[in-house]
Amino acid sequence: MEVVILAAGKGTRMHSALPKVLHPIGGRPMLLRVLDTAVSLSPNAIHVVVGVGAEQAIALAEEAYPHAGINWVTQKEQLGTGHAVREALPGLKQSDADNSVLILFGDVPLISRSTLQQVIDHCGPEQVSLLTTRASVPEGFGRIIRNRDGDVAAIVEERDASMEQKRINEVNSGIMAIPALRLRAWLDALDTGNDQGEYYLTDIVAMAHADELRIRATVVDETEVIGVNNKSQLAFLERHYQMGITNTLLEQGVTLLDPARLDVRGDVDCGRDVQIDVNVVLEGQVRLGDGVSVGANCVIKDSTIGAGTKILAGTHIEGAEIGKETSIGPMARLRPGTVLGDGCKIGNFVETKNAVIGEGSKANHLAYIGDAVIGDDCNIGAGAVFCNYDGANKHQTTLGNHVFVGSNSVLIAPVTLEDNAFVAAGSSVSSDVPAGSLAVARVKQRNVPGWKKPRKK
Ligand code: UD1
Ligand code: MG
Repeated sequence: MEVVILAAGKGTRMHSALPKVLHPIGGRPMLLRVLDTAVSLSPNAIHVVVGVGAEQAIALAEEAYPHAGINWVTQKEQLGTGHAVREALPGLKQSDADNSVLILFGDVPLISRSTLQQVIDHCGPEQVSLLTTRASVPEGFGRIIRNRDGDVAAIVEERDASMEQKRINEVNSGIMAIPALRLRAWLDALDTGNDQGEYYLTDIVAMAHADELRIRATVVDETEVIGVNNKSQLAFLERHYQMGITNTLLEQGVTLLDPARLDVRGDVDCGRDVQIDVNVVLEGQVRLGDGVSVGANCVIKDSTIGAGTKILAGTHIEGAEIGKETSIGPMARLRPGTVLGDGCKIGNFVETKNAVIGEGSKANHLAYIGDAVIGDDCNIGAGAVFCNYDGANKHQTTLGNHVFVGSNSVLIAPVTLEDNAFVAAGSSVSSDVPAGSLAVARVKQRNVPGWKKPRKK
């Protein structure tokens, strides 16, 4: 079995500069989703027909599947789905008589592996296999024409369909498996005698019927095979996909205050008794340990959150590893390279980046902690800023254990504060502080008695 994925279409109805098949569902471009499923079938070869936006599509897919050996076929002019498959023909191996060619569409992204396996199993030297669905809104799709015996005899595109044919609600998903040895002759016989003046792949069904091959239609639920031609279908499919994910999470015992207001764009792995409030977005690889709670309006990307940790409302976390029983937010921002120990507290308006913070350390309000290694049980006061950037390079700040950084202090890196160092509020610390020392680095206060405030001239 070889797979041909059609992905060259202009996607005119999307009204977008981004090629249609690169629009994402659940954060993953549709073409990659189709490739994921194609690869899982271990075919002899995968051919992808690309046209508009080819370079972008190739770059993305080769990054995701560097070893898949995808055969890229460029269709310069988009003359129809039949033409697209014909362009792929020279690359097909087609050696065995019982080989089949599975046609997938880059804009039908949620097709499952098990359904495709059925489609393949129903294809044989004398049998074409189709995937169809009963559409609640059949407009825009090719209609499945069955003869009196109920056998599929043809597919008629919407624009070529009679009033009577338009009433048929069984539609073509576009996905089919075709006996390889028959394919060339049928494709060569295609013409453009239709309303769009294109070579329709769907016309080979009538040819197969005329050649007395059997046409097996597997009918599946429409949500699995619904195609994306416009933004409204993209939005519909996105909601359907998200509903599937949230259902799985609920089945696993995750508490979702509103399943319709959680979006997962990647893979999420939850422990027991995880609770997620409304308007949360989880992206990339996210792991939430036992008893983690995520407040409203949080975004968590590529991060691991330890058991019992509370992420309070409005918090943004990316590329972070967070220990157990920690409290973060509300409105904190943890950027890549943040590693928090157990029992830490990162409060409102605190930003961390590339910062390793030890057990029980706290930064409760308004601080920037960048390029830092901080020991256990430290306290970073309100308004503390770790100056990590000299205008050209980044430098590190190192704190031992039990260090106290007073409010509104500036730590100018590279600088080290040893165990039990204490920085007086409002200090500008530019040289190391030895263990157990107090650093006061600010102008001494001077009081002027009887001070008169200036008068307006
Ligand atoms: C197609 C089917 C229709 C089916 C529907 C399901 C045909 C003639 N029609 O219509 O029966 O109900 O899909 O979604 O096959 N493409 C190319 N090169 C081209 C034209 C298209 O690679 O020259 C690709 C597109 O990128 C897309 C796929 O083929 O991934 C389908 O093309 P599209 O224009 O969306 O066809 P539909 O009108 O949806
Ligand atoms: Mg389409």
